Amino acid sequence: MKNPQIIVNFKTYASGSGERALELAKIHEKVARETGVNIAIAVQAVDLRLIVNEVRIPVFAQHFDFAMEGAFTGHVTPHSLKAIGAFGSLLNHSEKRISLDDMEKSVDLARNLGLFTVVCAESVYAGKAAMDLDPNMIAVEPPELIGGDVSVCTAKPQVILDAVQMIGRDRVLIGAGIKSKEDVEMAVKHGAGGILVASGITKAHDPEAVLRELAEGFIKGQKLRSGA
Ligand code: G3P
Repeated sequence: MKNPQIIVNFKTYASGSGERALELAKIHEKVARETGVNIAIAVQAVDLRLIVNEVRIPVFAQHFDFAMEGAFTGHVTPHSLKAIGAFGSLLNHSEKRISLDDMEKSVDLARNLGLFTVVCAESVYAGKAAMDLDPNMIAVEPPELIGGDVSVCTAKPQVILDAVQMIGRDRVLIGAGIKSKEDVEMAVKHGAGGILVASGITKAHDPEAVLRELAEGFIKGQKLRSGA
């Protein structure tokens, strides 16, 4: 499975829910096609089926429960995600933390089902520890910067360097407060596999323009990395 390079988490923003989620998803598909950047989205469970059927970019769940098929009520199972064609899921997002035990079992189960997992971590150390579970990617997001105006790339650039060194080039996504082309360029230039972003897109007046900028930042970061 090809690693996503920009994941946009729609969270529960009204601009990323229901019919508006579908519109936003189509914008992502368009920008992915036009720029060649592998852009993925993470949408609410109730919107997954609609969106998976309408766009040809990787669509993630924002979370799933460690639950089997059977006598479980109110859970979102990975089996159901797989059945409707979801590409994978975020796990342990700052806004949806799970226990280490659940994380381990969930990553294993997802792997067996062929779902791509992105485990979120609040620090480089937590991300390094999560590597033992062997998820597909780790997203490092300092919680205090999530949803804010100052990006991790500006406030804590060392996080990028440490994450790449301790977790691995291209295996790590960087997130929290990312809004600009320069943020993405910096993360990718230093070896990050890409970014995880939400409000920079979901709260933008022109999400397509911002997404295009972020994709350009990704491309520029890759060029700088290879010395081109
Ligand atoms: O899942 C992405 C996220 O937590 C970062 O959110 O709004 O800071 O881009 P935001």
